[in-house]
Amino acid sequence: MSTKDNQKVYFGDKKVTKQNKKDGVESIFTKVSENYDLMNDLMSAGMHRFWKKSFIDAANIKKNENCLDLAAGTGDIAKLISKKVRGKTVYLCDQNNEMIEKAKERSLNEGFYQKCFFDVSSAEKLPYKKETFDHVFISFGFRNFSDKKGSLKEIKRVLKKGGKLHILEFSKSQGENFSKIYDFYSYNFIPTIGDLVTGDRKSYEYLVKSIRTHEDQEAMLSLFEDAGYLDCDYKNIFKGIVALHRGTK
Ligand SMILES: C[S@@+](CC[C@H](N)C(=O)[O-])C[C@H]1O[C@@H](n2cnc3c(N)ncnc32)[C@H](O)[C@@H]1O
Repeated sequence: MSTKDNQKVYFGDKKVTKQNKKDGVESIFTKVSENYDLMNDLMSAGMHRFWKKSFIDAANIKKNENCLDLAAGTGDIAKLISKKVRGKTVYLCDQNNEMIEKAKERSLNEGFYQKCFFDVSSAEKLPYKKETFDHVFISFGFRNFSDKKGSLKEIKRVLKKGGKLHILEFSKSQGENFSKIYDFYSYNFIPTIGDLVTGDRKSYEYLVKSIRTHEDQEAMLSLFEDAGYLDCDYKNIFKGIVALHRGTK
């Protein structure tokens, strides 16, 4: 293992090796996959649906464009993309097999399977040829990556020239009073809802901590620019609880 691989990264609020983070994230998403969609609705009071729709609407996807839903989870983003394209041009990739199996089942039930390809792989080593995609989307997955800089480089490899990376992620809430309410809600209610619905308090404590230790809006902008993306920007959604980040190859 190289020195770079031994560098410590945040897993929740603890610093661990990249491999330990990868294993920890894998174990959490295997545990939460069963109730993933229900918990998203409960924790965000359904607002994640609106955030995700605005995320995809803002991308201005053309009917024949190749799109990658990376860290696809159960396929919320792929489903929205499938409504914008005509052919089989939607790729779902996630490192967690249980999540991808849920996405497959759901796409069959909800009628978008025929537009999709499914892959189990990590963002740090994508199973695609260089310059394959017009758009790469990551929704609420990036903060879990064990090698954020490496993944940005790898995504750039698979983007076409002029192709765009779009990341929707939790970020730093704006305004002192609002942030206090948000902190109270997330530290107290999210783990409790998680415990009541799934019996797994720890995974939801990880969720809250992983949001707090993730790069804020400006730090994300620097990560994009350092990785060589052009025209980088971000837009706060819901007072910065969530931010939409964009860059072009
Ligand atoms: C919070 S879920 C988001 C799922 C979906 N995109 C959504 O918005 O509902 C995060 C997903 O990221 C995946 N993930 C975490 N680290 C990853 C990595 N390094 N490469 C690929 N997928 C990863 C997890 O397996 C999980 O399915």
